[in-house]
Amino acid sequence: MLNAGCRLGLFPLLSAEPGSTAEEVGAGLGLNPRPTQTLLLGTTALGLTTHEGGGYRNAELIEQRLRDGTWEIIEDLVAFEAGIVVPADPDFTESLRQDTNVGLRRLAGEGTDLYHRLTHHPELSDLFYRCMHSWSRLSNPVLVAEADLSGVTRVLDVGGGDGVNAIALAQANPGVEFTVLDLPGAVGIARRKVAERGLADRISVVEGDIFADDYPAGHDCVLFANQLVIWSPEENTALLAKAHRALPAGGRVLVFSAVSDESGDGPLYAALDNVYFTTLPAAKSTIYHWGQYEEWLTKVGFTDVARHAGNTWTPHGVVSARKP
Ligand SMILES: C[S@@+](CC[C@H](N)C(=O)[O-])C[C@H]1O[C@@H](n2cnc3c(N)ncnc32)[C@H](O)[C@@H]1O
Repeated sequence: MLNAGCRLGLFPLLSAEPGSTAEEVGAGLGLNPRPTQTLLLGTTALGLTTHEGGGYRNAELIEQRLRDGTWEIIEDLVAFEAGIVVPADPDFTESLRQDTNVGLRRLAGEGTDLYHRLTHHPELSDLFYRCMHSWSRLSNPVLVAEADLSGVTRVLDVGGGDGVNAIALAQANPGVEFTVLDLPGAVGIARRKVAERGLADRISVVEGDIFADDYPAGHDCVLFANQLVIWSPEENTALLAKAHRALPAGGRVLVFSAVSDESGDGPLYAALDNVYFTTLPAAKSTIYHWGQYEEWLTKVGFTDVARHAGNTWTPHGVVSARKP
């Protein structure tokens, strides 16, 4: 219902014309009366719209996002769920049974992770990177607020996607330079985004494989943003050890991700997002809890390990550490 409402343009219509009748909504959306009733019954029963005195309005929850300009982010998240997550959801149970990402079979192609498979599906790849951008844009104020880059000259953004986090950090830290390292599909998008924001002199975009290739030299901070949720504890330990080797003494590492509570009871968003992580991205993807990141960082030799909770509705936080 939410996806259909988004795709059909129901919510902007009701924002522009609050109190519209079903007939007016149907005319505005180009729908016949029966499907209009179906849609409005669904959105209203779900609390996305209200129905009073014969007229329909957006729920305040939605109206607020249309007002504050974050509605386009929500639409991207819904499109991601509808286009990538939901088609693989029937494989969740089997993914639990087999302890691997069975849902990846829904995307034909080579590679054992979603990112390599996406290279065979240009439309889904565009959808993925557009939605990843929105998810990071929504959650990265936590990163920007908590990343202490004082004294840092150059940050390596490992698997930096379309550069959304490097761009936000560059804008907030004028003296710092960045390198975004990612696979070919993302690199082209990142170069375009960086150039559009006039940051090509401070953000380099480099194609490479974060496991197979050496990290480019000359960085005193390594950022893993929404990256260590994808891989197994062994792979994450290897990635963090690689960062440790690449950094000079005093260099920093930042892990920015959705995090689950050590108490094992939430947050709910992290718990439910794990359906996606279990079913699709890679064999052992999951939303780890704080203590797991701290354990791996300590194990590979980092000190001053600290956690910074986001206190927002997305379950994001930052774990920072330093190479002694
Ligand atoms: C969940 S996305 C996060 C993107 C970005 N860091 C963000 O927070 O918006 C994971 C990113 O890791 C990249 N990635 C996955 N496997 C990789 C590999 N082996 N080498 C380089 N990049 C990789 C993907 O292309 C994707 O951009």
